[in-house]
Amino acid sequence: MVKICCIGAGYVGGPTMAVIALKCPAVEVVVVDISVSRINAWNSDQLPIYEPGLDDVVKQCRGKNLFFSTDVEKHVYEADIIFVSVNTPTKTRGLGAGKAADLTYWESAARMIADVSKSDKIVVEKSTVPVKTAEAIEKILTHNSKGINYQILSNPEFLAEGTAIADLFNPDRVLIGGRETPDGKKAVQALKDIYAQWVPEDRIITTNLWSAELSKLAANAFLAQRISSVNAISALCEATGANITEVAYSVGKDSRIGPKFLNASVGFGGSCFQKDILNLVYICECNGLPEVANYWKQVIKINDYQKSRFVNRVVSSMFNTVSGKKIAVLGFAFKKDTGDTRETPAIDVCKGLLGDKAAISIYDPQVTEDQIQRDLSLNKFDWDHPIHLQPMSPTAVKQVSVSWDAYEATKGAHAICILTEWDEFKELDYERIYDNMQKPAFLFDGRNVIDLEKLRAIGFIVYAIGKPLDPWLKDMPAVA
Ligand code: UDX
Ligand code: UDX
Ligand code: ADP
Repeated sequence: MVKICCIGAGYVGGPTMAVIALKCPAVEVVVVDISVSRINAWNSDQLPIYEPGLDDVVKQCRGKNLFFSTDVEKHVYEADIIFVSVNTPTKTRGLGAGKAADLTYWESAARMIADVSKSDKIVVEKSTVPVKTAEAIEKILTHNSKGINYQILSNPEFLAEGTAIADLFNPDRVLIGGRETPDGKKAVQALKDIYAQWVPEDRIITTNLWSAELSKLAANAFLAQRISSVNAISALCEATGANITEVAYSVGKDSRIGPKFLNASVGFGGSCFQKDILNLVYICECNGLPEVANYWKQVIKINDYQKSRFVNRVVSSMFNTVSGKKIAVLGFAFKKDTGDTRETPAIDVCKGLLGDKAAISIYDPQVTEDQIQRDLSLNKFDWDHPIHLQPMSPTAVKQVSVSWDAYEATKGAHAICILTEWDEFKELDYERIYDNMQKPAFLFDGRNVIDLEKLRAIGFIVYAIGKPLDPWLKDMPAVA
């Protein structure tokens, strides 16, 4: 029986291993983590992450060929294949701070593997890491090898949160990078055999190590770039009276461009896009390619611009001040169908509104008050450290309240900001909400989820990203 151990029971490691266990009943999969609370949650009825379909998969395999454990060393020792799926935060200090990846957790996992292994291992890089990380890890392992043969593979994960299970069941491609030596090829084949249990052969791509690592960074950079492109055009739509939905639809109909990932928004979030682009930028700079670095940097600049543009729009529409006004925020997660808030645009928007002394009342169906308070208090990039290593719990932000009900959150509010595209926001009783708000009642839709005409007919002054402006908003001072 092939034994797999995955180090890191997070958003990537957990779902990916659960699906491997489901699809490969003859393989034993153990997911290990240093966080006791996380492992306890994986072993309970309340999994640590919200992901549609995940509960079902875990229930089918847990205790059969899928296990969650904190006994990291034992399971690494026993495994044939070790996936490493630990945090790779952005460095906050020292060389490359604010850009380079902090490989502390990766390195400590590699050293631990070297310490406890007594048999040959295939070590698979699953976290997105900078190009050439595999080489560095290989050095740590081989310099401490005690005669053990280590094969390093790069097998980046392309699942998106909210659709992780569907993405894993039916991936566009599986990418496996390895050394082009006989042993390297054998290791690639061993991993290929696992995925081939359910993924068609022609979707399993094999490349060299560096191509696999770079493909992941490039794919995320391309996806983020599409969003920044459509968001940049959304600003021009508002200035000229074009409608971003019509423009994006027309552009996406070109089969060379394609219709996906062209939804204008208040900005992209999530644990990957910004981090991976910053990494790409850093690698380009280190390789003497400042023009290329600047090109990709612009994708992040437009994303930051889109978030501050939204805040400016809110403030300027409301007579240039939100001081003391209640603003209801609907949606805090970085996208729908997840409770994940890492790099969510809601953090920057809320901080912007708080900077103008607004009182914010937040509702998200999957995000807890604790999480929101932590997010609004942490410094940039601090979120990506295991919870027990994060700075001590800071004092709660007083002007922020969190409620478990959209009607409660919007009661008495001067304005509503929709920051996540949860389906339920389309179905709310906006007449009832309007009746309970201060007048004029403003609604700022950062995700283009509401029916503009309907809400305007109710009486709301509505702003939606990239849509022709209400006469009211046109009369307000230009947005910087
Ligand atoms: C373009 C648009 O494709 C077309 O829809 C519009 O109506 C007019 O402008 P055209 O300039 O005729 O058409 O050719 P196109 O095939 O788009 O190529 C433009 C340039 O891009 C060429 O120099 C081509 O060699 C180059 N190119 C294209 C690349 O370098 N790489 C590619 O992958 C594709
Ligand atoms: C992304 C990649 O899609 C995935 O392949 C990779 O493995 C990890 O990073 P994820 O961050 O989970 O996945 O979600 P994704 O669906 O890509 O959305 C990222 C952000 O972009 C979200 O904030 C989302 O709301 C935003 N987005 C997405 C838009 O603003 N407009 C779009 O058209 C699509
Ligand atoms: P991702 O979204 O990439 O899955 P997460 O932050 O959700 O990232 O998960 C990474 C997990 O890795 C965390 O649960 C963290 O506790 C765990 N981790 C980090 N370093 C180690 C280590 N050396 N050994 C075991 N687990 C680790």
